[in-house]
Amino acid sequence: QHSEENYRIGFSQAMTTDNWRREMNKSMQLEASLHPEIVLEIKDAENSVAQQVKQIEGFIKDDVDVLIVSPIQSNPITTVIEKAMDAGIPTIVIDRKIDGSNFTAYIGANNVEVGRNAAKYIISHSGEPAEIIEITGQEGSSPAHERSEGFRKAINQIPNLTISHIIKGDWEKASIKEELSKLLDSTEIPKYIFAHNDRMALGAWEVVKEKSLEDDIHIIGVDGLFGPNGGIQLVKDRILSATVLYPTGGMEAIKLAEELMSHESIEKNNILKTVIIDSVNVGIMKNQFDKMNQQQNDIEHQQEVIDKQINTYNSQSKLIQLMIFLLVLLLILSVWS
Ligand code: FRU
Repeated sequence: QHSEENYRIGFSQAMTTDNWRREMNKSMQLEASLHPEIVLEIKDAENSVAQQVKQIEGFIKDDVDVLIVSPIQSNPITTVIEKAMDAGIPTIVIDRKIDGSNFTAYIGANNVEVGRNAAKYIISHSGEPAEIIEITGQEGSSPAHERSEGFRKAINQIPNLTISHIIKGDWEKASIKEELSKLLDSTEIPKYIFAHNDRMALGAWEVVKEKSLEDDIHIIGVDGLFGPNGGIQLVKDRILSATVLYPTGGMEAIKLAEELMSHESIEKNNILKTVIIDSVNVGIMKNQFDKMNQQQNDIEHQQEVIDKQINTYNSQSKLIQLMIFLLVLLLILSVWS
C-alpha cells in the first residue's frame, strides 16, 4: 500500500543462491530497518533474465518510489530500466551495469580496478616467467568484462607473464572444474590462476588439490567475503593466495535511495573501495569484519527488543482500552438500573 508516510523501495536482485548476494540483501534490510518509513521489497530473479524483466515491470506497475536493480546481464535488462526511468521512477543500478547511462545512479566497486589489483598482486610476486590461467565470470555481465579488461591490460605490460588460457565460467564453480581438470592434464602447469570470484577460485583449488598441485599453483579470487568459506577465511587458510575485496554496496544503495527520496542531489557514479587481501593484511581485515559483524548483530538485537516492546505496548494499550470500555458500560448500566 502506498501511504503518505511510507517510502517504497523495490529491489530486483539477480539471484540469492550465493552468500555474497545474501549479504547484500541483509545489509539492505538492516539499513532499511533503521528507517521505519521505508518499506523495502526484495524480489529474487533466480538468475533468469526473463524473470528479472517481469519483476521490474511489476515494480514499475506498483509505482515504487525508488527502484534498485542488480542486473543479471547488461544488455537484456537495459530496456526495462529505461522504461522505469521513462515512468519517472529513479533507478539505482548496483554491482552489475546496464548498457548506456539511462539510470539515476550506479553503485559498486570499479571492476577494471578489481582486475588490475589481481594483476598487481601477481606482478609483485613473480620474478621469473610465469603462465596464468584466467577464469572469467558469466559472459555479458559487466564485472566479468571489466575484470578481464583491467587484468589483461596490466599483465600484458609485463613480458615475463602470459595469460596462457582462459576458461569461461558462469560465476559458479561447477562451470569450470571439468575444463580446468582437463587443461591441467594436458598443458604446462601454470604458476597462477586468477578466477573472477572466490567461489570459482575455491573450485579451482579443489581441482588443483586433487592433482596435488596446491604448492605449485597460486590462486587469486575476488569478493573477500567474511564468514565460513568466504574469501577472507580462504586466504587465512592459505587455500587462496589472495582475494580482491568486492563490497556488496547494499547499505550504501539504501542510503542513496533515502537521499533520493528526500530530494537531495546525488552523485551518478558511486564507486566503492576495493583492496587486495593477502597473507599480509588478512588478519587485520578479519578483525575489522568481526567487529563490524558484532555491531550488525547488536543493531539487529536492539531492533528485535524495540519491536517486542512495541508489541507489548500495543497489546497493553488494547487491554486498557477494553477495561475502560467495560468500566463505562458498567457505569451506564448502574445508572440505568
Ligand atoms: C555474486 C557474484 C559475485 C561476483 C558478483 C559479480 O552473485 O557472482 O561473486 O563478484 O556476482 O557481479
